Amino acid sequence: MPTTAYAHDSTAAWRRANRERALPGRTVILKIKRCDGPGKPARWESFKVPVEPGMNVIAALKHIAANPVTADATHTTPVVYDANCLEEVCGACTMVINGHARQSCSCLLDEYAPREGDTITLEPMSKFPVVRDLWVDRSRLFHALTRVKAWVPIDGTYDLGAGPKEDPASQQDRYGMSECMSCGCCLEACPQYTHEDDESKWDTSFVGAHAISQARLFNEHPTGKELKPDRLDELMTPGGVTDCGNAQNCVKACPKGIPLTESIAAIGRQVTLRAFARFFQGK
Ligand code: SF4
Ligand code: SF4
Ligand code: FES
Repeated sequence: MPTTAYAHDSTAAWRRANRERALPGRTVILKIKRCDGPGKPARWESFKVPVEPGMNVIAALKHIAANPVTADATHTTPVVYDANCLEEVCGACTMVINGHARQSCSCLLDEYAPREGDTITLEPMSKFPVVRDLWVDRSRLFHALTRVKAWVPIDGTYDLGAGPKEDPASQQDRYGMSECMSCGCCLEACPQYTHEDDESKWDTSFVGAHAISQARLFNEHPTGKELKPDRLDELMTPGGVTDCGNAQNCVKACPKGIPLTESIAAIGRQVTLRAFARFFQGK
């Protein structure tokens, strides 16, 4: 039986070639890493799934849920996963597919398992605690966004009047960064971002490329830059931008093509200037 010998080659051209040669009416194997809850041991289960045209990984998981019987005819429970938008916008369905973190809602079986009997492996992301099966708790990722105050400071309790004028060129620059969907792919790929269950360490462990990029986004926003000193001060502390090892895995892993290494370099420069300013102000 053929195995997935091309698991790590997931370029767009490779996926397109697989789509074009995908065999109609085939059955593929989903090999899924399962876990019944936090602290419980993991196990692998395999399922046979008949492929329908255009089927994605979420549809395959729904097929399994309707009849949760493994490939060796053992009755089991439906596989638990997270999902919301089903159009690669919310990031909730991110899992490790054939060794790479990506969104399962946009992952087509034709692209990853084009032949009869091909196997696709599904695992939960390793950098976040597993809630159950493929569902992970991404709270730490959102906590990092609060660390860098990734928001525009607006008090909605009274009329603030017109805000500063927007420059279309700067809006265009920020647009790319604003597409971040907090999926966690950049963190899963980053050697500096390690699994941390102890919440008391979330304020000193590496914030991650997504948070650094969001800090840059809001530092460049006409109103958001009010909080720029706070953001840079936070990014000077342990777990800040200097913890980045510059391996550049993050930018390759980001499904939205966000210029993460540019953001890391830009924030690095801003932090240096802020450190000089603080030095001369005696802070
Ligand atoms: S460049 Fe920095 S944030 Fe990106 S993967 Fe490397 S260490 Fe992680
Ligand atoms: S920067 Fe990219 S990979 Fe990282 S959380 Fe945002 S969308 Fe996902
Ligand atoms: S369900 Fe929202 S990105 Fe997949």
